[in-house]
Amino acid sequence: MKAVICPKYGPPEVLEIKDIPRPVPKKYEVLVKVIASTVNTGDVRIRGLRVKGIMKIIMRVVLGFSKPRKPVLGTVFSGIVEEVGASVTQFKIGQEVYGTTGFQQGCHAAYVCLPENKAIATKPEKASFEEAAALPFGGQTAIYFLRKGRIDAINNPEVLIYGATGSVGTAAVQIAKYYGATVTAVCSSRGKGLVEQLGADHIVQYDQEDFTKLPDKFDIILDAVGKTSKKICKPLLKPGGKFFTVEGTDVADERKAYLEFLSQLFDNENYDPVIDKVYSIGQIQEAHRYVDSGRKKGNAVLQIA
Ligand SMILES: NC(=O)c1ccc[n+]([C@@H]2O[C@H](COP(=O)([O-])OP(=O)(O)OC[C@H]3O[C@@H](n4cnc5c(N)ncnc54)[C@H](OP(=O)(O)O)[C@@H]3O)[C@@H](O)[C@H]2O)c1
Repeated sequence: MKAVICPKYGPPEVLEIKDIPRPVPKKYEVLVKVIASTVNTGDVRIRGLRVKGIMKIIMRVVLGFSKPRKPVLGTVFSGIVEEVGASVTQFKIGQEVYGTTGFQQGCHAAYVCLPENKAIATKPEKASFEEAAALPFGGQTAIYFLRKGRIDAINNPEVLIYGATGSVGTAAVQIAKYYGATVTAVCSSRGKGLVEQLGADHIVQYDQEDFTKLPDKFDIILDAVGKTSKKICKPLLKPGGKFFTVEGTDVADERKAYLEFLSQLFDNENYDPVIDKVYSIGQIQEAHRYVDSGRKKGNAVLQIA
């Protein structure tokens, strides 16, 4: 099968497209023919081993010391069930699904295998394969951090999303709105139009205004792009308010329940994943270069089939 291979850590140019053996599903596994994936910040971070300090050592232990132990990158997929293991009960051949493999990766390939009890769910009926692929990366991260802040338990939550135009930020604005929050979004003047469309109540353009001078106080501040800090944001927190950042050792997990929730949000038009660009698998290096730029708006989708 066709797959994108990352034979060593390095710039986008290290990536190659090769033919490798198709995985065979074990007893409880599902084999998915991948239609679409995304190239996300997780992928480029692994490819370039772009982490700082202690995380560099942790990443080498988890991913491989001198090169990725799992050379096929890609953490999200949408596609069609091609084969099921003998004991699989939740999925059947031909079913349209989507999901995420996390650190197991392997989605930038024609087929991916994963256990049926992991993060795989029925694709929302109205979602295209591209839209379904764009749902999980930012979506599950936003759910993880907003729920950690107990957004569901706060009456009329006041939420600030710092870096509202990335994959995580665009999801966080919409999902916080779903929870009834008043959302203040911090983005550049380039991103203002997008963030308005997402439904943010207040917008601060970081290239024109200093968000730390806001008179408001927040229950939750989520740094969705890793460019601010708790120290900077502390004066903006209400007593008992919580600060979270995507940059650090706190990592969102992958859960079937998150996917089912994301499907529900999509079907009810509460969350529409933002798609910035769509690349073919042959444009994988270009896609990585774009994500590396740090200017992506929402998601970069990769068409596999
Ligand atoms: N902890 C976890 O579980 C977890 C999970 C997922 C992702 N992450 C991490 O979260 C970070 C964001 O991921 P992502 O995929 O959402 O990123 P992304 O899509 O690449 O975000 C880029 C966006 O951030 C904006 N931006 C750039 N500099 C900014 C600044 N100084 N202030 C505010 N906005 C800025 C850019 O727009 P402008 O250039 O127009 O401002 C662009 O739209 C990454 O570092 C990723 O590794 C962590």
